[in-house]
Amino acid sequence: MDPYKIREDFPILKRKINNNPLIYFDNAATTQKPKQVIDAINEFYRNHNANVHRGVHTLSQEASELYEDAHEEVAKFINADSMEEIVFVRGTTEAINLVAYAWGLWNLKKGDEVLVTLMEHHSNIVPWELLSRINGFKVKYADVNDDGTLNYEAFENAISNKTRIVCLPQVSNVTGVVNDVKKIVKMAHEHDSLVLVDGAQSVPHLPVDVKDLDVDFLAFSGHKMLGPTGIGVLYAKREILESMEPFHGGGEMIKDVTFNTVTRRCSISWNDLPWKFEAGTPHICGGVGLMAAVRYLENIGMENVRLHEKMLTGYALRRMQELEKIKIYGPRDASSKCGIIPFGIAGLSSHDVALFLDHYGVMIRSGLHCAQPLHEKFKLKSSARASFYIYNTREEIDRFVEVLKEIE
Ligand SMILES: Cc1ncc(COP(=O)(O)O)c(C=O)c1O
Repeated sequence: MDPYKIREDFPILKRKINNNPLIYFDNAATTQKPKQVIDAINEFYRNHNANVHRGVHTLSQEASELYEDAHEEVAKFINADSMEEIVFVRGTTEAINLVAYAWGLWNLKKGDEVLVTLMEHHSNIVPWELLSRINGFKVKYADVNDDGTLNYEAFENAISNKTRIVCLPQVSNVTGVVNDVKKIVKMAHEHDSLVLVDGAQSVPHLPVDVKDLDVDFLAFSGHKMLGPTGIGVLYAKREILESMEPFHGGGEMIKDVTFNTVTRRCSISWNDLPWKFEAGTPHICGGVGLMAAVRYLENIGMENVRLHEKMLTGYALRRMQELEKIKIYGPRDASSKCGIIPFGIAGLSSHDVALFLDHYGVMIRSGLHCAQPLHEKFKLKSSARASFYIYNTREEIDRFVEVLKEIE
């Protein structure tokens, strides 16, 4: 893959910040959008806009077809059996809340355990902690090693026959550590526990095959993989989705709502998958934009995305170690992680580092990255985080290191 050619598809990368070329290293927060995605959304509103699954007219048929095609495209991308296993939601956060409330609310009780890790994004902690207040189950936290890798021994010891669901990120949004999901799935399934994988930082960056991983749930966000905000995906095995209660109630998710004049109550039957979980008018143009994003990534090839990011990460790790006052957190070998590098500079807050870099057009993230427990484990008040994607180059890393040298 040629990042220089790819860059031509991203209009925003032509911007200047204080007369400096824009260098976007905040890809773990959200990615930039290629013109193919922008054009697909534009074309939808110009020529095909209508509500889906509601009208017999031409525009409604076209919009419905596009929206269904988007589900098909995503199913193919992660190797799901069919689009019935692909529920469109707002993002990873909503996907995890869907599992908590449409599965957990009905299946978890006092005495049960939900096992999460200390490297979780808050969106894979808070829904479980909230639900445990209602259902009285316990949320257990599996420890991570000092370098931020998962402690598999601790994990194995923490799983028991009380564990009903194991939740973990495939890739940490703080350190970029790639977890061995297959290993965890095997451990969990041996204890009849389900597995929910937070794929927010993996699906955009690695080939992910849900059949090969054998995960029960996979959650991810469109906006972190070139797509628009407000659209994301919950993949779940068909039999699990069939056994679950709906999440939100309303139009689109029902087949029949029949009113019994004697009991004066309605009896309701649910729509087919995946619509049973997509109540109300969905984010149609979001789905269309996501489809364009997935096609864009498929064109490049996810193996190539992974290789490019590994090369950039290895290069950045080497160059950053030239700096005297820098401390890089987490593992320092590019092969065990994705393109995310958390770091600190002695004597400066992470916000100061980010503001200084911003002055020179380099955009990174600073703060806790919605992962406070991991920062507490590292005894850090916050961290600076550089994260890469397909349009980033070695020259941008050189410039980033040059600016960091100015700070020192
Ligand atoms: C690992 C991880 N999980 C979940 C989320 C939440 O994603 P969203 O805000 O798109 O719902 C993020 C976002 O940064 C993330 O990095």
